[in-house]
Amino acid sequence: MTRLFVPRDALSVAVGADELAAALAQACPDATIIRNGSRGMAWLEPLLEVQTESGRIGYGPVEAADVPGLLAAGFLAGGAHPKRIGRPEEMPFLARQTRITFARCGITDPVSLSDYRAHGGLIGLTRALSMGGADIVDELVKSGLRGRGGAGFPTGIKWRTVMQAQAPQKYIVCNADEGDSGTFADRMVMEGDPFLLIEGMIIAGIAVGATQGYVYLRSEYPQAVTAMNQAIAAARQEAVLGAQVLGSAFAFDMEVRVGAGAYVCGEETSLLDSLEGKRGQVRAKPPLPALSGFLGRPTVVNNVLSLAAVPDILAGGAAAYQALGVGRSRGTMPVQLAGNIKHGGLFEVPFGITLGELVMEIGGGTASGRPVRAVQVGGPLGAYFPPALFDTIFDYEAFTARDGLIGHGGIVVFDDTVDMARMARFAMEFCAIESCGKCTPCRIGSTRGVEVLDRIIAGDTGQLGLLADLCETMKFGSLCALGGFTPYPVMSAVRHFPEDFAPRQHALAAE
Ligand SMILES: Cc1cc2nc3c(=O)[nH]c(=O)nc-3n(C[C@H](O)[C@H](O)[C@H](O)COP(=O)(O)O)c2cc1C
Ligand code: SF4
Repeated sequence: MTRLFVPRDALSVAVGADELAAALAQACPDATIIRNGSRGMAWLEPLLEVQTESGRIGYGPVEAADVPGLLAAGFLAGGAHPKRIGRPEEMPFLARQTRITFARCGITDPVSLSDYRAHGGLIGLTRALSMGGADIVDELVKSGLRGRGGAGFPTGIKWRTVMQAQAPQKYIVCNADEGDSGTFADRMVMEGDPFLLIEGMIIAGIAVGATQGYVYLRSEYPQAVTAMNQAIAAARQEAVLGAQVLGSAFAFDMEVRVGAGAYVCGEETSLLDSLEGKRGQVRAKPPLPALSGFLGRPTVVNNVLSLAAVPDILAGGAAAYQALGVGRSRGTMPVQLAGNIKHGGLFEVPFGITLGELVMEIGGGTASGRPVRAVQVGGPLGAYFPPALFDTIFDYEAFTARDGLIGHGGIVVFDDTVDMARMARFAMEFCAIESCGKCTPCRIGSTRGVEVLDRIIAGDTGQLGLLADLCETMKFGSLCALGGFTPYPVMSAVRHFPEDFAPRQHALAAE
């Protein structure tokens, strides 16, 4: 029977994948249609694939209206058509990647546990079950894995703290809030390979002695919620989750909790408050969530990508993962290319690649065809980098050295029509809107920051010193990184694009 693949992820659905699947079901009643995850080549979605004798052949982007023409071209046998891209894995965008976390994404049926097993799933968990918690933690420490949520804290060290804590109940909380602008890797894992996250969370539970896990997801991700819930149900059905994980003495279960969607609810302590049913507001640290987290119990809070890296580390061994990357940034980073970019999408690569290679070679420059003027790396709290800094390598320390951050690996590209003073204002305004209100430098400072930037934009450049002062106060006086890092986009815009803060520019713009 012919097998067709039509992605089910939010991006593909937004551009017509459901309509395409329906049209194919009608036109090819004998074919099996598998709703796979995305391969991560956003510009080709919906990417239709057909299983042929010479492998899977892709066509993209395909609309429902293309189906009659595709049939006439013999696409069921991989026939020639203007939208035929050949074998997806031979596309340079995919061929250049080192896919570890995303190895299965786009290939398997995301909610089929047998497909997951057939493609190397559960090997890491099986090995973990034969190890003690301390050995699993040691393996994680040796791998060099650092948290992919933003702060880059070593995952193994965090797990060790939770493992050593004494408590009747511990928890694993997966931070799937994914609020950073231009990021979608967590969503792609949950929609395209949810068992990977489940496996990572079970291993974390075994390592630290936790029997219950939660995935904290935002309501804007309905496809991810569905895929995760389907996968959790399938995992329970086959005793991957439950009282005896894979027939062992270990118990672990988990559920999805949906938040209303606030940027600050991605901050781990705010997330925990929200998970407990309260308004999401940042908690003062200490105590660390590792010692007093969900309901006051020791809790591992990790990003989706951190947990999704774990099964492969256990399956392939820490040394293989550690061998990839540079400096203290080990393994791969699923980089997300977004904004005004020709080839946007998910690009997983070992640390060490330059920003310029990612934006210009892999991303192909801007979608508008105009010159790149700025890129923001690391979400709304990340710095703006001009092309002059495109030699910066993807490495936590290299970005810190240039007053930037990698964050969750999002890169948003802007062409030469961008007004960087307005982007600086946007950063302050974002902080003012999203502030949880707990501390004064952020709550009041961001609102004053918008006002100061409005005066600068109106031509009063004498206010630039005041802006710098305010940013210092926010940076060093804020309780969490929302207020503390907003100065990065603001001051990087001032530093690298001073001409946009000069009075003439805005006087002209106002004319
Ligand atoms: C304002 C703010 C928003 C954040 N949003 C997220 C988020 O959406 N996802 C995430 O994993 N971490 C986010 N973080 C980082 C978390 O607080 C925390 O460091 C992370 O979940 C730890 O997991 P990791 O060690 O695996 O990265 C945010 C931090 C701040 C200050
Ligand atoms: S910096 Fe902002 S978001 Fe963070 S605790 Fe203070 S007021 Fe809340």
